[in-house]
Amino acid sequence: TDYATILTETRGRVGWITLNRPEALNALNAQVMHDVVDAAEAFDADAGIGAIVLTGSERAFAAGADIKEMEALSGSEMLLADHFGKWSRFAAVRTPTIAAVSGYALGGGCELAMMCDIILAADSARFGQPEIGLGVIPGLGGTQRLVRAIGSFKAAELVLTGRQLTADEAERAGLVSRVVAAADLPDEAQRTAETIASKPLPALYAATAALDVAVESTLAEGLRFERQAFAGLFDTADQKEGMAAFREKRAPEFRHR
Ligand code: HXC
Repeated sequence: TDYATILTETRGRVGWITLNRPEALNALNAQVMHDVVDAAEAFDADAGIGAIVLTGSERAFAAGADIKEMEALSGSEMLLADHFGKWSRFAAVRTPTIAAVSGYALGGGCELAMMCDIILAADSARFGQPEIGLGVIPGLGGTQRLVRAIGSFKAAELVLTGRQLTADEAERAGLVSRVVAAADLPDEAQRTAETIASKPLPALYAATAALDVAVESTLAEGLRFERQAFAGLFDTADQKEGMAAFREKRAPEFRHR
């Protein structure tokens, strides 16, 4: 499929989505939202894909929502058109998602990275929520996911000052899974994605769902969900194969079912 604002590619069992609006540092306009969500959902529906990498350019993962596009909107237009609503479908993708971040991940760009399961950062990456300087606040989860990721006091400093975190600061704060040299980012992202995609798909889906429940609910609800999801996996062919392979001291051959 051809998209206007992204490039897509399949490398083995890994689906790649590359934001491609270099003239605007990958600012997230409505077309980007439609393209990314459509591409991610297509990968999600494909049992041949076991991990999705979302990335940008060397200079910018994404410099935020498109300021020029939203500047003139009224509050009621924003509400009625649910201008950014479709992004929630990206967060709901079951296939594990990896944000491979180089350069700016600001505003909606930082929020989009936080919708992924894993954030890999180049040493050049910069994370921030600069919305306060535009007279608004984060609107795609920045005040919520950032608090859960790095804690309320670190999150408050970023949201109230607009200050950017370096890749190393973001890693120490717990926002970034791992920092790599900028030149190694694509290979590291592919390697991590391949490792994930080689695992049985039903267990991957159960794991991403359970990890999401952990940040969305109470401990008691999360433990209940985990117990059910764990039990459900015992009805999958891949669980029988994985455990038989262990017993027979051989490599498992998963069929992703
Ligand atoms: C529209 C943007 C953009 C954005 C950059 N551009 N960010 N266009 N929306 N968010 C455009 C610039 O206008 C410029 O195009 C081109 O990209 C290159 O950017 P420069 O500013 O010339 O680059 P540089 O001087 O290197 O500065 C990089 C930067 C800066 C520090 C990242 O671009 C910047 O501050 N951008 C805005 C960051 C921001 O405030 N993001 C939050 C947006 S609000 P032209 O054609 O003019 O040269 C948000 C809300 C999310 O994300 C909530 C949604 C519900």
